Amino acid sequence: MIRSILTTAAISLLLLTNYYQTPSQTLNEFDIWQLKHQKIYIGEERIYREAVYQANKQKIENHNKDETRTYDMGENQFMALTQDEFISLYLTQVDAPKLEQQEQIEEIFDTQEPLKFVDWSSYTTIKSQGQCGSGWAFSVSNSIEAWYGIRGGRNITASAQQLIDCDVYSKGCYQGTNYNAMHYAQQVGLMNSMSYPYIGQQQGCRYNRGDYRINNYQFVGREQQTLQHYIQNYPVSVGVDAQNWQFYNNGTFSDCGQNINHYVLAVGFDFGYNWILQNSWGYGWGENGIIRLSPGNTCGILNQAYQIN
Ligand SMILES: *[C@@H]1O[C@H](CO)[C@@H](O)[C@H](O)[C@H]1NC(C)=O
Ligand SMILES: *[C@@H]1O[C@H](CO)[C@@H](O)[C@H](O)[C@H]1NC(C)=O
Repeated sequence: MIRSILTTAAISLLLLTNYYQTPSQTLNEFDIWQLKHQKIYIGEERIYREAVYQANKQKIENHNKDETRTYDMGENQFMALTQDEFISLYLTQVDAPKLEQQEQIEEIFDTQEPLKFVDWSSYTTIKSQGQCGSGWAFSVSNSIEAWYGIRGGRNITASAQQLIDCDVYSKGCYQGTNYNAMHYAQQVGLMNSMSYPYIGQQQGCRYNRGDYRINNYQFVGREQQTLQHYIQNYPVSVGVDAQNWQFYNNGTFSDCGQNINHYVLAVGFDFGYNWILQNSWGYGWGENGIIRLSPGNTCGILNQAYQIN
């Protein structure tokens, strides 16, 4: 892994210096960003990408100057993408069922019961989905990993790639939903991710079977209190509107609509009732891979909240 990164970095450096044909020239900040994120843009494309990079830098600076902001933006792997490109590469459009179409769960819990702040983030790891709209698959495979950890103290990995390849209700990197992926995990089960590794693009279904099955799953959204209650037991896979998440770095986010276009894993809420969500854009994004949303139905978090049980 390290070796391949170093090799890629060395190749990029070579290409960059060749491109300039003046090896002694120092690298500018865009070159350094390219090296760090293993990107190589040349010719016309480079000119365009560098301009996008500069525009994004300006956007981040302006945002972070605003005294009233509740979150900071930061530079990351998405710096050379316009917002439209970011949306089309990383997010998916989901024809989400309307709230009223979803099955009402029985409110069996005592609403007077005091809420305990909870954070399950240590039960799974932050993944990197790459250039594939597979947030829906990671949201579910991570929720299975956490479920096995919390329930049985078993440290497992569950294959997101299998969902991309084999869940016939999804369109691989282009579309998928958490409830269909959970249905697959219930009917078929998932392999571990060593046996069925992530490649970040759709291929033919390699194994339509797996050791990690779930008993059932249910909708636990709609009301803030419902999600808060159920998240005390296990993390919850949630659909979100991530259209403005491109440069989120830290703090409490609420700059969004409720049009679901991405899935993440809700692992708890903090003392201020802010939702704690694990994303699949690597540890370099957000607060070590995590975003915090303000309370309530921020970014539509209550619209497609499904939990394994
Ligand atoms: C983001 O993190 C920086 C560095 O820790 C901190 O100074 C800043 O206040 C944080 N921003 C927000 C909005 O929490
Ligand atoms: C689970 O196993 C992985 C790989 O062996 C390890 O990195 C991780 O720390 C383990 N996590 C827990 C919670 O034991």
